[in-house]
Amino acid sequence: MEEVKVFCPATIANVSCGFDVLGLALDDVGDEMIVRKSSTKGIRITKIRGQDLPLDPTKNVAGVAGLAFLEASDYNQGFEIEIIKKIKAGSGIGSSAASSTGAVWAMNHLLKNPFSTLELVQFAMAGERLASGVAHADNVAPALFGGFTLVRSYTPLDIIQIPTPEALYATVIHPQIEIKTSDSRKVLKTKISLEDGIKQWGNLGGLIAGLYTQDYDLIGRSLEDHIVEPIRSILIPGFDIVKSKAIEAGALGCGISGSGPSIFALSKGKKIAEHVAEAMQRSYHKIGVSYELHLSPINPQGIKIINESDAIL
Ligand code: HSE
Repeated sequence: MEEVKVFCPATIANVSCGFDVLGLALDDVGDEMIVRKSSTKGIRITKIRGQDLPLDPTKNVAGVAGLAFLEASDYNQGFEIEIIKKIKAGSGIGSSAASSTGAVWAMNHLLKNPFSTLELVQFAMAGERLASGVAHADNVAPALFGGFTLVRSYTPLDIIQIPTPEALYATVIHPQIEIKTSDSRKVLKTKISLEDGIKQWGNLGGLIAGLYTQDYDLIGRSLEDHIVEPIRSILIPGFDIVKSKAIEAGALGCGISGSGPSIFALSKGKKIAEHVAEAMQRSYHKIGVSYELHLSPINPQGIKIINESDAIL
């Protein structure tokens, strides 16, 4: 096997109360990548469709993640990567994570999986460091493991897979502006009050318990963010109205997807998620904000092969 084509899912990081530690994978939106073995050492990014991004592997998140993989591997040849970008950069649904995880997952697959998924997370985090200045794992972990993931600890890296209640659906609306993660991290405070901490870890514990026990009300009550959302929401057009209309339409909860500007809502069942989508869209129509919409079940699998060929290069 010399070549593999993979689907690399978009992801929602933070999920309101889990800044930098919680994330989930989506099913209906993601990038595609073709990775093939090459007799030339190193990483070559041969083609990028859909976006204007650097082909230089040291300046591209997929390249940087791939180089981290190669450095740890005893494979002494190289890989070529083609990227078909479908997730917009600066959208808040893990565009850089999709590229960096897709590269390392496909490379691992072509070498018959010498590395564990946890090790792949570490390689992909090098891509996140390039993209945002911080090697956060809350997008790359769900892209690689699927479902919901919790980064219990960064040092040492400890990632827990959290079960996903079956009826859970995500609605994501992306106002058509770009917010760089590095910029939306700069606006955050580096210290929080004990009072806010108490609310936040109460909610994070509640959300995890709700996911384990499929308690949708508890999930809804726990989708609150007292630390990051009050600051970042100012950067997002119409955030408050979109959020209140989503909740009114039946969403369990609603918040900022990753570092924004996308806004996500979680609902019980596709029907409610569709109502929520309509309500969110109506709000943006009213205030004249153009948007893109995604409606998706939670992706239990993460990255997957979409087409494989045995073609020898
Ligand atoms: N946890 C990161 C942040 C996710 O909110 O900055 C970025 O997608």
